Amino acid sequence: MIQKIDHIGIAVRSLDEGIKLYRDTLGMKLHAVEEVTEQKVRVAMFDVAGVHIELLEPTSEDSPIAKFLEKQGPGMHHICYEVDDVDESLNEFQEKGIRAIDKSSRPGAAGKRVGFLHPKSTASVLIELNSSEK
Ligand code: CO
Repeated sequence: MIQKIDHIGIAVRSLDEGIKLYRDTLGMKLHAVEEVTEQKVRVAMFDVAGVHIELLEPTSEDSPIAKFLEKQGPGMHHICYEVDDVDESLNEFQEKGIRAIDKSSRPGAAGKRVGFLHPKSTASVLIELNSSEK
């Protein structure tokens, strides 16, 4: 079951430039910077009253974010909803006919389990599901 919006993912070419914009110019609170090797990205998380803005910079040319930047340039990449249990939700949504990119959950940022739904099934919006369960 979807509980809330956890974060909005935004693809950037440079995390340093992104941090300058979001922290120094827009005045958002920088929560954490980390590398998610599994997804070949470096991530900066900002906190806006419990909802996060996640800036994503590719760490390699075969990163999904590198491919996204190549195709459409920097911009909104995905929306992430928090669910009780990522694997349960992936199963439930697939049973309802939604195509999932991940058949089961995998490690994401901030030690959370994540899974992605395919934008072809979700009105062209890439949807990430996460939960704090490890
Ligand atoms: Co995300």
